[in-house]
Amino acid sequence: MRIFHVVVPEVRTVELGRKIVLITGASSGIGAAAAREFARAGATVALVARSKDRLDELAAEIGPNAHAFPADLADPDAVLGMAARVRAELGVPDVIVNNAGAGRWLFADESTPHDFRDMAAVPYLAAGYVTTAFAADMVRRGSGRIVVVNSPVSRATWPGAFGYAAARWGLRGIVAALRVDLRGTGVGVTEIVPGKVSSDYFANNPGSEERIPSISAIIPTVTPEQVARALVASVRRDRSRTALPFMMRVTMAQAWIAPSLTHRLMSLTGAKRP
Ligand SMILES: NC(=O)c1ccc[n+]([C@@H]2O[C@H](COP(=O)([O-])OP(=O)(O)OC[C@H]3O[C@@H](n4cnc5c(N)ncnc54)[C@H](OP(=O)(O)O)[C@@H]3O)[C@@H](O)[C@H]2O)c1
Repeated sequence: MRIFHVVVPEVRTVELGRKIVLITGASSGIGAAAAREFARAGATVALVARSKDRLDELAAEIGPNAHAFPADLADPDAVLGMAARVRAELGVPDVIVNNAGAGRWLFADESTPHDFRDMAAVPYLAAGYVTTAFAADMVRRGSGRIVVVNSPVSRATWPGAFGYAAARWGLRGIVAALRVDLRGTGVGVTEIVPGKVSSDYFANNPGSEERIPSISAIIPTVTPEQVARALVASVRRDRSRTALPFMMRVTMAQAWIAPSLTHRLMSLTGAKRP
């Protein structure tokens, strides 16, 4: 006799075989790991960053489904040129992963206007340039997904990283604006927020690691490969937001429920003005 009838909800998964996935910041860290993971899932990957040699090397490692499109994403004309090449050689991407990012961590009063411009350029403006370069094509086609890789600072702002933090709040704004703009078009939006990642980010941006608030030690560091797997799973499942590891989700929930307390903790345990 059957007493319980368990209903397992059907989970929709997006097939990635033959999809075109454009990944910015693919020459290193999270972007390179994501390119390998998407390619493993059968996607054709368009690799974008400035370092042509590193992109060519990665494309050769991945095989015929990977194509390098070197470009400086701080320059809107270079982004348009890259987009035209991608369209001509591969077609309109099905998935765009806005991941390229850099930025020195400086207090507002340590920064110059040029520092601020550089920190806004990549990732914030670059994500806007790449998204707008393809958005009309994606909406016309009626399908696709735009992914934004964001930082914990977009939820729990810490001191000593003025331009960096402002640019990540800007990315959060891009996500929010895209969600309403693209509603009903068939083009989805995903934000992924990893905690600290064991990539070369801190070697590439000297002076940053020392300014991570000490309270952040409660969030275990994740690898670029873990982020890449979470990213591919989010795209497959049409997820609108993913944070990892688990303690990062707890931190985001805390920042949402108690923003003042969160920012107070960041101030107390964060960098002090030199
Ligand atoms: N590492 C962390 O702890 C962490 C945590 C949360 C979020 N994130 C975010 O994740 C993203 C990727 O970081 P990562 O850890 O993988 O760092 P990474 O290893 O330093 O990679 C950064 C990537 O961005 C590219 N890039 C930088 N400036 C560019 C430009 N002007 N034009 C084109 N590409 C540019 C770099 O390539 P080229 O130098 O070849 O141009 C590189 O491929 C960043 O947005 C970062 O803020 C990182």
